[in-house]
Parts: sequence; C-alpha cells; structure tokens
Amino acid sequence: MLRTHTCGELRLTDINKQVTLSGWVQKSRNLGGMTFIDLRDRYGITQLAFNEDVNKELNAKARNVSREYVIQVTGTVIERESKNKNNPTGEIEIQVTHFTILNEAQTPPFTIEDNTDGGDELRMKYRYLDLRRNEVRKNLELRHRMAIEIRNYLDKLNFLEVETPVLIKSTPEGARDFVVPSRMNAGQFYALPQSPQTFKQLLMVGGFDRYYQIVKCFRDEDLRADRQPEFTQIDCEMSFVEQKDILETFEGLVRHLFKTVKNIDMPHVPHMTYSDAMTYYGNDKPDTRFEMKFVKMNDVVAGKNFKVFDDAELVVAICAKGAAEYTRKQLDELTEWVKRPQIGATGLVYARHNPDGTIKSSVDKFYDEESLKAWSVACNSEPGDLILILAGAEEKTRKAMSELRLEMGSRLGLRDKTKFSALWVIDFPLLEWNDGDPNLLASLAGRWHAKHHPFTSPNPEDIALLQTNPGVVRANAYDLVINGVEVGGGSIRIHNRDLQAQMFELLGFTKEEAQKQFGFLMNAFEYGAPPHGGLAFGFDRLCSLFGGSDSIRDFIAFPKNNSGRDVMIDSPSEISDEQLKELNILSVIEAK
Ligand code: AMO
Repeated sequence: MLRTHTCGELRLTDINKQVTLSGWVQKSRNLGGMTFIDLRDRYGITQLAFNEDVNKELNAKARNVSREYVIQVTGTVIERESKNKNNPTGEIEIQVTHFTILNEAQTPPFTIEDNTDGGDELRMKYRYLDLRRNEVRKNLELRHRMAIEIRNYLDKLNFLEVETPVLIKSTPEGARDFVVPSRMNAGQFYALPQSPQTFKQLLMVGGFDRYYQIVKCFRDEDLRADRQPEFTQIDCEMSFVEQKDILETFEGLVRHLFKTVKNIDMPHVPHMTYSDAMTYYGNDKPDTRFEMKFVKMNDVVAGKNFKVFDDAELVVAICAKGAAEYTRKQLDELTEWVKRPQIGATGLVYARHNPDGTIKSSVDKFYDEESLKAWSVACNSEPGDLILILAGAEEKTRKAMSELRLEMGSRLGLRDKTKFSALWVIDFPLLEWNDGDPNLLASLAGRWHAKHHPFTSPNPEDIALLQTNPGVVRANAYDLVINGVEVGGGSIRIHNRDLQAQMFELLGFTKEEAQKQFGFLMNAFEYGAPPHGGLAFGFDRLCSLFGGSDSIRDFIAFPKNNSGRDVMIDSPSEISDEQLKELNILSVIEAK
C-alpha cells in the first residue's frame, strides 16, 4: 500500500512513529525556512512540516507543489507547537523525510473547501472535484450508512433482496417512460422502469413472500429539487398482509433508521386521512412540524357586503402565532408574495390581534369589532397573533393557502431541519380526473387516472361505488410524509383478475389494450396470487431529509441538472448515423 495510515487517524499517542501518508494537497504555507502542507484524504487532514535546516532539498520540493497535487510522504509523527483544536489530528504533524509527487494537478476551477466559490453548474461539471469536498462526501457517507441499516433491518425480518430487470415494457400509465430502442428487434422499444411495481407483484405470485430492493427508477417528468429523472427507491412488497401490517413494518424501518443513523427516538407515527390533510393543510403531504391549521371562514365572514368573500367558493384563514407585530410594509410584501403567479392568489386579507386585545383588519370598512371578534374565535387567535385570509375558487385557494402556510412557517422559524414530524396519510382517492396533467401523455387527458397506480386495491367498503361514483372511491393506499416531504407510498394490491380488469376499464383501457399492456399480470392472477401489498420509499428523499437538505441532488454522486442533463459527461447527446441506422429509428419514423 502507498500509505501506512490515513490523513485522519494520527494522534498524540502516535508520537515518534514512522508513517507514510498519501493524499491531496489542500494547501501549503511557506514561512521562511519552514513549509507546511495540509494533506487531505477521505478521512481528514494532517499537517506535514518541512524544515529547511533539516533538509533543504525537501523543503524546496515542498514549496513547488500546488493545491490538489497527489503526493506521498514518509516521516515521523511529532507534537505540534501551535495546536489546532478544530482538527482531530491538530495536535500532531509529520516531520517529512521522504516526499514523492504521485501526480500533478491543474489549479481546480473552484476551491475545494467547505465554503466553495464554485457555482452549481461548475461544481456539477467537475463533480469529481466536488466529491472531494467534506460536505458532499459526508452526504454520500450518510447514504451508505442508511443503505446498510435498511438492509440490516429488512434482512432480520426475512425480506429477500431480488433484482428486477431494467429493460422492460413501456406502458402509458404513470409518468412518461424513458425508452430504449432494440437493435435486435427492429422497430421495437424497451422502457426503463418507473418502478419495479409489476415485477414485485409477480415475485409475490412466485411465492417470495417478502421482497425488497434498493433500486434505480426512471421517470421522464419535470424536475424539481426533490425529483430526478433517475432516482432510487427502497422498494418493498409483502404477501398475506393487511394495511396495518405494512404500516407497522415500515414505520419500524423508519424508526430503526432514525435511531441508528441519527440517534433519535421517533414517536409513534400518527395516521391522517387524505380528506383531513386537504381540509386542514390544503395538501396531501402536510408539514406537521407546526400547527397553523386551515380554518374555513365562509360562514363566519358571510353577509357583510364584502363581495370578495361573499362570492368566493372558499374563504380560508390561518392564524400565525406571534406575528401581529408584522409591519404594514411586511404585510404589503406578503400580499405581493401571494399574488405571484406561482402562488396565484388575487389578494390577501389580514387581521392583527393586537397585544392590547383590539383586532384591526385590512377590511375594516366591512367588518366591525364584533365581526372581527368572531374571526378571532373561529381562528382561536390570541393577542399578538396575525390572521391571514385568502378567498376564491376552492382548489386554487387551498393550494395558495398551503403555500402561504409553509411560507409563514419558514418565516416564523417553525421548520427546523433538525426536528422531524412524520405521519401516514391514508384513504387516498383511488382515481383522479385528468384535466391534462403535463406529466402525462396528452392522449390520457379527459379520463380517470389512478392516483397511486392501477394495481392499487380500492377500499373494500367502496368497491360497489366503482360502478356508480368512481370519484369518491377510497384507495387502500398510504403515503409516509415527513416534514412535508412525501418520502414513501404504497398500497394493498388488487390480486383478483376480474377486479384488475374492471380497474383497467375504468382507466379507459379497452379489453385488448389491457391484455396487451398488462396481460402478463392478469394471467399471473389466474395462478394463485396471494393477497399482497407494499410500498416504496424515495431513498434520495429520505437521505436528504436525514441530511437536512431540500435538494436530493446533494445526496446523489452524479446527479442530473434541472434540464435532465449530466453536464459532466454531457448527456444526453446525439448518436452517430451508423448507430441510428442500426437501431432502425429512422426507418420507424419513416414507416409512420
Ligand atoms: P411512487 O410513485 O409514489 O410509488 O414512488 C415512491 C416514492 O419514490 C419517490 N419518488 C421520487 N424521488 C425522486 N425523484 C423522483 N422523480 C421521484 N418519484 C418518486 C417518492 C415516492 O414517495 N410502485 C409504487 C410504490 C408502491 O406502490 O409500492 C411507486 O413507485 O418519495
């Protein structure tokens, strides 16, 4: 080996040892006859000392190395004169006796420090240099630790990790597929899996009973901080279980992760229905680190000739604790904030519950003191609080208020990244009407769409409604939400051929289409499919949550940017005419 120790492990107890270290030059300092180099590797930084009086030649050589040179040194561990308490190796240094340059380096395009001067794109282009930074390395170490603990937990419970194929079949359900042309089957295409959903169900039919896989999934959808085109799921499935068994098993996994990785004892995870989540938080993934619940105000504010409220489908309030001291300027700015197109509210009404008990609103013309008292009672406000009200069309207003609630939570410091609040959201609607969701193929607009996926079982009590009123049927599905992030979701599956066929019919598939797309699954259901269900966690999201970041990119070694590009390898890219020909892509287009 080119080293006897790492750059993170030598201490005062190692004094006088002869050691060899290898690593990168973090920085070097020339002080008269002395040269000091900070040598860095994955494990830490150790100071190297060169003394002109001891070895003139070595000192001259040391002066000539620049940042990021890869060097190897041998020397003696000595106690430092001026100690650095901030570095675990800061009490010692190496008095170097041999010194080899293993590789030279150009000056890096950004500084490899905790607070780097490199912007996002630059760091992504040189991701291999970014990976040398502590922060990025720590994130990937956390990811590794989590993966190990996931496997430990699931292995103890008899889950088997099974790999499923990556070249599969394109289906029009769900998000858009990434497709891969097949050279050997001219004119035909594989798709990359959006998840191993059907395969894990087939594994249950195959008797595997408890399956998991930490697996790459691919979705061609619009990207955000918590969405990448390729991402990783902790994908799980179990046979002979009901919803509560799955929630218990995987709540156990999350609790195990919090304990082993963060030493946090997670309390029992409460359940909230989808309907309550929408009513009280306007959102199916509420951030429950703070309350600030929605209060429906239609009845409270009606009949005072304020048209904005009287005509609105929904008038909804939140009470921001302790925010009555917001100045007029702050409130004007907040009003502009809700009016931005991303939020889409037409205006903001507020009422300050002043510390002296009086209540002053921005619509005093219409509401006297008595009326405002009623607002206060409805919103449970106390002196010092600020009531914020939005009004308008139901869905839009609810969405806008959900954003405002989160914004107020952030402004009031209620969204502490070191605090965690988890909940299971249950009783989702089985179906939702697709008005033209931009993440779906245009041909799927104007029909029912499976909110979770088409294999999700309806709530047994609601099955009869499938024929009469499909929009109100609840799914036997659940999401795990932590701090407002959907970290996982799953369902009990349909395991009956007829019910599955009925579901496809509802989703607008003809019998032939359903057979062509999903015949393999429906056929499998004819051969003794056990009752089964499962879920998948977004592994990248779970890691970023544990690491206290909003962006999953920080926890992926080689992520894509917001346009879905890998700027380091410059992908996607064009392919040669020869490849195009071999793949028959041009002839497929011409034939159409
Ligand atoms: P679902 O589509 O809800 O369910 O995905 C499961 C979890 O995966 C994460 N996730 C993503 N993470 C990063 N980037 C993305 N583009 C992305 N899309 C989803 C989320 C989500 O909760 N087969 C089902 C699971 C099941 O029913 O068992 C499925 O894929 O955290």
